[in-house]
Amino acid sequence: MKFHEEPSPNYRDLRGWLERVERSGELKIVRGTDWDLEMAGLAEIVSREAKGTAPALLFDQIKGVPEGYRALFLQLDSVGRLALTLGLNLDRPDKTSCVKACRDRLAALELQSPRFVERGAVQENFARGDEIDLFRFPLPKHHELDGGRYFGTAHCVITQDPDTGWVNLGTYRCMVFDKKSVGLHMSPGRHGRTMRDKCFERSQPFKVAVAVGVDPALFLSSTMAVPAGVSEYAFAGGLKGSPIEVLEGPYTKLPIPAHAEIVIEGECVPGETREEGPFGEWAGYYANCGLTPVPEPVINVKNLLYRNNPILTCAQPARPPGYNFAFCVFRSAMIWDEIEKAGVPDVRGVWCHEAGGSRLFNVVSIKQRYPGHSRQAGMIASQCASGVYIGRYTVVVDDDIEPTNLADVVWAIATRADPESAIEIVRRCRSSSADPAISPDLKGTSANPAAVFTSKAVIDACRPYEWKDRAYPVVEVSPELRKQLLAKWGDEFKGVL
Ligand SMILES: Cc1cc2nc3c(=O)[nH]c(=O)nc-3n(C[C@H](O)[C@H](O)[C@H](O)COP(=O)(O)O)c2cc1C
Repeated sequence: MKFHEEPSPNYRDLRGWLERVERSGELKIVRGTDWDLEMAGLAEIVSREAKGTAPALLFDQIKGVPEGYRALFLQLDSVGRLALTLGLNLDRPDKTSCVKACRDRLAALELQSPRFVERGAVQENFARGDEIDLFRFPLPKHHELDGGRYFGTAHCVITQDPDTGWVNLGTYRCMVFDKKSVGLHMSPGRHGRTMRDKCFERSQPFKVAVAVGVDPALFLSSTMAVPAGVSEYAFAGGLKGSPIEVLEGPYTKLPIPAHAEIVIEGECVPGETREEGPFGEWAGYYANCGLTPVPEPVINVKNLLYRNNPILTCAQPARPPGYNFAFCVFRSAMIWDEIEKAGVPDVRGVWCHEAGGSRLFNVVSIKQRYPGHSRQAGMIASQCASGVYIGRYTVVVDDDIEPTNLADVVWAIATRADPESAIEIVRRCRSSSADPAISPDLKGTSANPAAVFTSKAVIDACRPYEWKDRAYPVVEVSPELRKQLLAKWGDEFKGVL
């Protein structure tokens, strides 16, 4: 009996996916909330405090928005929903099984170009120019100190490289400035940001489409470090085993998801900025210039396409652990893949911890094969494409340590890693304005941000290679004795164990 019984991702769009989630018992519909702090606040509480699996939350009958308009939070926040999204075959619902299943999917992945179609559900409604009013949608205000309401937090920003024509999708937050103007916050080094910089360097407008309520496999792909030159459309099609259907955007000519809930099309023009934020970020702080808004480019919205009774998909970044389960799983699988491809053998597990916001505290477990193996694993994991963004701590542990178990990992660090010889510090590595460990004095001004760097620590918590085979025995009931004891005494401890 498989843990997940619907192995093929046979939904076409977000609504098909939602039907399946509802059937699996992981959807909670909440009626009558306010977009102002209530939706995101409840999502945060549920994601942190749910007894058992946190359900996806579909907010309906939201105050102040038209009947039928809805908002979805906690989309990918459970093993079951991730498995359903990708059609993962899981024997066990634990984190490592999820990571391994995603790795298998990556190993078998064949890119599938998107399929252009004539008609799509997103065309059910269309508005242009002054007819557009983004405030009709249930745009959440997430936290008390946020500076505005957000159209895009769990979405895809679709852009094109002006040199190569490569179409990229990335999740870059979009705050609404007015009825038809939206901000676009893209960190340096993001693929979409490089495309924007190229256009602006040539004094050209930068065409952008933003799709909300897309196929969850496409959303997941858009949040991951898919290699440069590869479109997330093709990656998501490969993950699902069927192409994503797209239409040609009437204004941008960019491919837009044909069955998305909402798509806006527009352009940013060089030199035009407006004050964006503050916005509470994934690491759990207002670290992007504190509570001072920052000038960001403006998407001047030209076209709006949306389905009847649209669903706005939303994420609520906040102090971890929280909404980031699927990102922890998938990033772990990608780091594992990348370090193996870079030549690190015998990797037994990878976990990007929830408490590190899926980026700041990552653990790799290996079976040590040769002197220097553990440093190689740690150094590469901390700098590979999926681990390089801040990625402040990378811990390498032996294969008797379960990388997803924080207590195991801390025990390994505390007992096997002599700080003087076990910790390598690499300076001037990739960071971000979202890095809360960088002093505000070093971040420049909001109008003129400074280049920021972080140092990174690789903590080699493996047993020292030279005497690993003479390591002190561990004090622990052996698996055989455990089995014997429980066979004999199990009944005595019913309700206790
Ligand atoms: C919910 C969520 C929100 C995000 N918001 C932003 C953002 O506002 N700006 C940004 O640069 N990256 C953001 N990211 C990270 C990028 O989406 C991610 O690094 C992605 O790989 C970028 O795509 P790219 O590699 O094609 O540039 C966010 C990720 C998630 C999961």
